[in-house]
Amino acid sequence: MEDIMPGYLVVHHENRIATLTLTRPQALNALNLAAMRELEQFFHAAADREDIAAIVITGAGEKAFVAGADIAEIAACNGEQGWELARNGQNVLNNIQRFAKPVIAAVNGYALGGGCELALACHLRIASTNAKFGLPEVGLGIIPGWGGTQRLTRLVGTGRALEIILAGKTIGAGEALQMGLVNAVTEPAALLSTAREWLNAILTKAPIALAAALESVYKGMDKPLDEGMEIEAKCFSRLFDTEDMREGCRAFLEKRKPNFTGK
Ligand code: COA
Repeated sequence: MEDIMPGYLVVHHENRIATLTLTRPQALNALNLAAMRELEQFFHAAADREDIAAIVITGAGEKAFVAGADIAEIAACNGEQGWELARNGQNVLNNIQRFAKPVIAAVNGYALGGGCELALACHLRIASTNAKFGLPEVGLGIIPGWGGTQRLTRLVGTGRALEIILAGKTIGAGEALQMGLVNAVTEPAALLSTAREWLNAILTKAPIALAAALESVYKGMDKPLDEGMEIEAKCFSRLFDTEDMREGCRAFLEKRKPNFTGK
């Protein structure tokens, strides 16, 4: 089933996986404010939709995932508007990272600037062999402002992140895989099916446990170890009140597959 929205998102639903295709071909799917608003609204609504258990984000066409924030909009901003642009974009992408169901970026072609930052906000990244990642903002006289300086650094380390940020260097799928920026690389034709296969495997697990795992990883990662451990113990112990925890353990002991209900 496909929802063609009037704006920039095309949403395809299959087996409780929603695939969002950012579609703005005239600008290599660059994210303007309207597209960001659509993304925000989609995730807001998807949180409570039982027919959506996981999300894939990709870009229309083979050339670009997303070629960045819209440079024409950036060019028209003053400092105050620049602050708002950053905070608004960070907020939209933070809500993707905090989404309680798994989100995979399926990166086809250019993922530059805000496009790279969007991919970094997703929980997992699968790249096609033609993917190109970069944060070229210093070449425009700005810096990444949608979390790129923070998320890339946390994902690949300061040295690698600064190599990409300072040199405005574009890296290919192989190098991205090597440094841990992406989880896997596939042929372009297999990109979406691979992303959905990964999600289908993840969706055989207990949904409340998946949400707790995401919460524990992301809440804990910026905290000192002791605080992270406490967050983990809270997320862990909460699961003992779920039917799925009883079912998962019982199924193992009875040597059968679990039947999770999300309760
Ligand atoms: N914002 C607005 N428009 C963009 C855009 C962006 N981030 N990226 C591409 N476009 C537009 C181009 O202006 C061009 O529009 P036009 O046909 O009206 O001239 C169209 O998309 C195609 O891009 P073009 O540059 O002609 O394609 P290319 O194959 O020569 O180069 C890129 C591809 C991705 C290398 C190049 O478009 C690019 O460098 N884009 C900007 C990347 C960037 O700096 N992103 C960070 C922004 S914060």
